[in-house]
Parts: sequence; structure tokens; C-alpha cells
Amino acid sequence: DQTTELHVTRDGATMETEKKTQTTAEQMTDRDLSEQIKKVTMESHARAEKTELMLSFQRGQVTLAQYKLLLCSLYEVYQVLEEEMDRNSNHPGVAPIYFPAELARLDAIEKDLEHFYGQDWREKIVVPAATKRYCHRLRQIGKENPEFLVAHAYTRYLGDLSGGQVLGRIAQKSMGLKGSEGLSFFAFPGVSSPNLFKQLYRSRMNSVELTEEERNGVLEEAVRAFELNIQVFDDLQKMLLSFSDNKLQTCSTQSRPVKTLQI
Ligand code: HEM
Repeated sequence: DQTTELHVTRDGATMETEKKTQTTAEQMTDRDLSEQIKKVTMESHARAEKTELMLSFQRGQVTLAQYKLLLCSLYEVYQVLEEEMDRNSNHPGVAPIYFPAELARLDAIEKDLEHFYGQDWREKIVVPAATKRYCHRLRQIGKENPEFLVAHAYTRYLGDLSGGQVLGRIAQKSMGLKGSEGLSFFAFPGVSSPNLFKQLYRSRMNSVELTEEERNGVLEEAVRAFELNIQVFDDLQKMLLSFSDNKLQTCSTQSRPVKTLQI
């Protein structure tokens, strides 16, 4: 049988059954956008993994301060990304990869922010300049080149469904959180199998018709999307450092200053 059935839950209730020709990795061709995008961003992915923030996650040393700050930036980014995806949901370059019921992260992030910052979390959001630049770019392409949105959606959502799944479990352990409170961001209740869903997503990406120029634009935009993420992570680390410097305390009973990290 040449067909595979992919079941994707929508809102955890209705089921969408998608019959598609088998697109296992070995059947993908060099012309497939999903393969090309993975290839061109491979080096960027390696760099993203090596940022201080991502290394903290991988070492199981992520702190509450790091996670809270990351959530603030993710809030801003997903707010704009999802707004632009919604607005352009009928665009031929967006419609095939538009899966709000399965992928949308904004509500989950809001829940996590409320958990950590309390009811008035909106007044406590702090983001570095890099996050503003990322959001600005998302708005710009949402207006001028909606066919590039696939590059940003791929970078965030497929990342969240890949390494992000492991990172969630690590984060829980590192911060000593009980249960899943504050970790909604990592959970995709509308996706029963991340691997199957990624297959479906890749086949949808490959179904988007793009001119050669548009295709190159999308690939370029994906590298840019990774770069924007890396800059956010680096800026967040700098912000944390400056917070701790501001709280540098001098202990009067000792002859030399004692740094205390109080984030
Ligand atoms: C895929 C790990 C950070 C975006 C993956 C995969 C792993 C992984 C194991 C699956 C590879 C495969 O199926 O072939 C990690 C780790 C990270 C990290 C350990 C950091 C601690 C990131 C970041 C982004 C990202 C920061 C983007 C902002 C992606 C994307 C994919 C992916 C888009 C899908 C690749 C594809 O199948 O085309 N990651 N990742 N990752 N990751 Fe990451």
C-alpha cells in the first residue's frame, strides 16, 4: 500500500484524516522545500544549540530566571507570528501550513506567564531589543511577503515539536517544577504524534507552489529566522547578566565585594 494515513486531532475533538502518498524521508527529493530548508539551516541550527541559553537547557541547568525571561520573548514573538498567520491564513503560501488548532502557542504561553508572574503578568513583560527586531521582521513579511511566513512557522513550530519536547522535560527537572504547571508551552495537546505531524507538515510545505525566486526567498528567510532566534537568546543572557550586576552587593564585613546572584 502506497498510502499512509495521518491522524491529526483538531482541538482534541474532531479528527482530520489525511490520505497522502508516502513521503518517508527516503522518498523526498532534492527539490522538496522541506529538505532544502533543513539543509540550508543545518549550520544555523548547530549555532542555535550552542547559545548559552540552549546549553543551559541541555545541561539541565536552566534557571527560573532564564525560563521566565524566555517566556516573555516567546510571548511577543508568537503573538506577532500567530497574528500574521491568522491574517494571511487564506494566502496560498500559508493555507497549507496553517494549523492553529494543533500548533498555536499563544494561549499556552499566557498561561505559563500567569503561573510565574501572577495575574498582572502583562505589566511585567520585559524583552530585549533583539526580540523587538524579530517581531518587526515578522510584521514586515506578514505585510509584504506572506509567502515567507512558512520559513518562520517552520523554524519555531517544527523546532518546538522536535528538540523542544526534550527541553520541556529537562526544564521541569532543572527548575524542580511539580507537575506540568508553567510548562504548557512545551505541550501540544492537539498533536498526538509529533513525528507523524512533522511528516504531514513537511508534505504540506512541499505542496506550496513557489517560483524559483520565492523559493530562494523562503530559504533565505529561514536562515534569517534562526539568526533572529540566536540574537534573542544571546540578548536574554546579556539581560540576565546585567540584572545580576545591578544586584551585586558589597558585604561590609568582608574586605572584598561578594557577588550574590539574586534573580
Ligand atoms: C529539529 C534538537 C534548538 C529548530 C531538531 C531535532 C533535534 C533538535 C533532535 C530533530 C532532528 C531530526 O528530526 O532530524 C535541538 C536541541 C536544541 C534545539 C537539543 C537546543 C537545546 C533549536 C532552536 C530552533 C530549532 C533554538 C529554532 C529556533 C528546529 C527545527 C527542526 C529541529 C526547525 C526541524 C528540522 C527538520 O526536520 O527540518 N532539533 N534543537 N531547534 N529544530 Fe532543534
